Amino acid sequence: MPAASNRVTRRRAILSLGGIVLSSSIARWGWADAAPAYPAAPSIPADARIVDATLTAAPRWRQLKSAPSAILDYVDDGPVVLRVKHGDWLRAKLINGLEEHTSIHWHGIRLPNAMDGVPYLTQSPVQPGESFTYAFQPPDTGTFFFHPHCNTVEQLGRGLAGVLIVDGDEARPHDADLVLVYRDWRIDDTGQFMPMITDAGAAKAGTFGTHRTINDKVRPVYGVPAGGDIRLRFLNLDMTRIVDLGVIGAEAWLIATDGNALPPQKLKAWRMGPAMRADLTLRAPARAGDRIQIVNYYAPEPVVMAELEAVGPTRDRPVFEPVPLRPSRIPAPEIVDAEVFSLRLAAATAPNASADGDLPPDLVLPDGEVLRYADALCLNPDTFWSFNGRSWPMQSHEVLPPPLVTFRQGSSYVIELINQTPHMHPIHLHGHTFKVLSSSKGEVVPHFADTTLVAPKERVRIAIRADNPGDWMIHCHIVEHQDTGMMGIFRVA
Ligand code: C2O
Ligand code: CU
Repeated sequence: MPAASNRVTRRRAILSLGGIVLSSSIARWGWADAAPAYPAAPSIPADARIVDATLTAAPRWRQLKSAPSAILDYVDDGPVVLRVKHGDWLRAKLINGLEEHTSIHWHGIRLPNAMDGVPYLTQSPVQPGESFTYAFQPPDTGTFFFHPHCNTVEQLGRGLAGVLIVDGDEARPHDADLVLVYRDWRIDDTGQFMPMITDAGAAKAGTFGTHRTINDKVRPVYGVPAGGDIRLRFLNLDMTRIVDLGVIGAEAWLIATDGNALPPQKLKAWRMGPAMRADLTLRAPARAGDRIQIVNYYAPEPVVMAELEAVGPTRDRPVFEPVPLRPSRIPAPEIVDAEVFSLRLAAATAPNASADGDLPPDLVLPDGEVLRYADALCLNPDTFWSFNGRSWPMQSHEVLPPPLVTFRQGSSYVIELINQTPHMHPIHLHGHTFKVLSSSKGEVVPHFADTTLVAPKERVRIAIRADNPGDWMIHCHIVEHQDTGMMGIFRVA
């Protein structure tokens, strides 16, 4: 595997040119005197039902085009789908077979802070050859995924991600349950990766892939039982691409967003940014050989991403009606009287991070050297984006900026996401699932989510019950935007 991109190397060089020595003893700002104290891992009760998994992050060959590509994955034949029943514990051992550190973030799972997989914030990075075991009991049913939170542009860009399904939400079982992972690969005709991040892309809508796949195949066709009821779990695991999910050839209903049940909504098109998931229910054609198309309407002409073909004898089923999933367990935020926190999504100001005037004091190193916050964090020429005037300093970096906001544990908040840019931003919160309440651009179907897409000049109001203590990430899930500044920490205490 090639080492980290030039871009990252350039940034590291810039950092060390400043004469700054970053050791793990100053991993958190102002913690000059102590090693980082990471949150404590939950302990597994003796009577827990445990599902074990081993995930070896490593370079692997995969045939995407005519020549094989050197991708990264946890298994040889991806994408890996882990399945647990609600109530089970998942115990997943990550083995790092890469040449750089990694971690696993369990996207959308409301788990204890220690298991959230953010290097330097919730755990030490897992170094090459090392392992780390994640163990948690997913509190919610639904369709989730996991991915590294280290050099995400390269690691996720080359394929490192998997699906986690927590079963137990169906009041009536489906005849088939299909997982469709959408993603592009940035490869050329010989299967070689092209640069994952470009300045032009990072400063705009992101750098797009060249090869569109569902489950690593181009326009695959899946057999489904004729006349049967089908559950489709669609995950947008691309780093950049927006999908307007639609179905041609059947009446489909949206039954879950980011894994969370909602009253079935007849599907016209559902807009999904990177990291967003949608569960659909539909009836397969009664006649064997007939097909349904799963399409992306976010294009001049609808793009067919995958097809379903009815196979076998026709199931004898009553007239189709979408059966709702069991209601979600997300604690309802108390919206009346909730405090409002405004988060402005904007381009970076230069030198960034000073807009709010609430930066921490300079850090005095043990040898008396004074480390200016601005020098350590802000001289990043690759920064394009900010939250409330502050840009995240750098990916995979040991010095963390202070939280953007502290929420009182147990209180509810309305967060207003204000997009001041001409680009889309799918905004993701760790550790919490929020309710999408309203948009300045028109009606929204109220729904629970962990990632929501905010359009240019749009304001979206979401609400959370801040009930999960710890320091959590909030960021744009267009990974280049995350990598070039649009990321921060919110604290629940
Ligand atoms: Cu899938 Cu911090 O994100
Ligand atoms: Cu963004």
